[in-house]
Amino acid sequence: MKYFAVIGHPVAHSRSPIIHQAFAKQFGHEIAYARLHAAPGGFADVLAAFQAAGGHGVNVTLPFKIEAYAICSEVSNRAKSAAAVNTIAFSKGELIGDNTDGLGLVDDLSGRLGLRLEGLSVLICGAGGATRGVIAPLFEAGCRHIRVVNRDVQKAKQLCIDINNVPHHEALDACSYSDLQTLKSSQGFDVLINATSAGLAGQRLDVPDAMFAKSRLAYDMVYAAKPTVFMQQAMHAGCAESSDGLGMLVGQAAHAYALWHGVMPQTAQVYKDLRAAIDGQ
Ligand code: ATR
Repeated sequence: MKYFAVIGHPVAHSRSPIIHQAFAKQFGHEIAYARLHAAPGGFADVLAAFQAAGGHGVNVTLPFKIEAYAICSEVSNRAKSAAAVNTIAFSKGELIGDNTDGLGLVDDLSGRLGLRLEGLSVLICGAGGATRGVIAPLFEAGCRHIRVVNRDVQKAKQLCIDINNVPHHEALDACSYSDLQTLKSSQGFDVLINATSAGLAGQRLDVPDAMFAKSRLAYDMVYAAKPTVFMQQAMHAGCAESSDGLGMLVGQAAHAYALWHGVMPQTAQVYKDLRAAIDGQ
């Protein structure tokens, strides 16, 4: 039996135990996967106690991904460019950190949603940790141009400066929502991604309707039983397709599973089962 956990605050809502147990079933692995709550400031202690008790690895969720990055003795290039860690493997007493969020997004876009990412231009709304985690994998998957739009445009510009170890990072730039209003109609984006917390407060984003109408897909990193505010906004504006982030959640878990166990699980049925469970609630 191998022991895993997700650490967060809050963490009671986390679907990670269900997803990892479904993956384990595919291979006949025996794992235990717990939800561990850490109070703000308590992440390092919870992590150390789990490691000392014989844990094999943890997933890290909000708000500890940046702290997890700082605490790891070794981190992947992906985690470096994100400056955040969502997966830790305990290896010979060391903490090895990675970030699988962007891989989960790329897999969901190119797998379940069937998008060819080569040459696409992407607009990401928001300049927080969620955005930081996905930029390098999107470029690595072939995206041609990524623009980050944020209310606080300085934060978006800083993010572009920070992410300097990404190939083609010159094709990464930042703007404000008012800049979007003045773009010519020819300057549309193939994919619009919501990485803000606006929807959690029921708020729409100041993205022009014409921009939604021109894009092939509006993708919300958040997931919910009903279409999110961002998805509704996109569909009303005439966007061809919209999706929430449930597939990204399953995808990031699959890559974490592969790091820990050395085998890549199938995600399609796990996604379907989870979708049915969430939508039926
Ligand atoms: P995370 O780490 O999950 O990305 P975060 O660092 O708190 O979270 O970032 C939240 C993002 O949502 C920020 O980009 C924030 O914009 P500002 O930096 O301008 O505050 C964005 N955000 C939150 N509410 C928003 C709203 N109503 N409209 C637009 N952007 C919003």
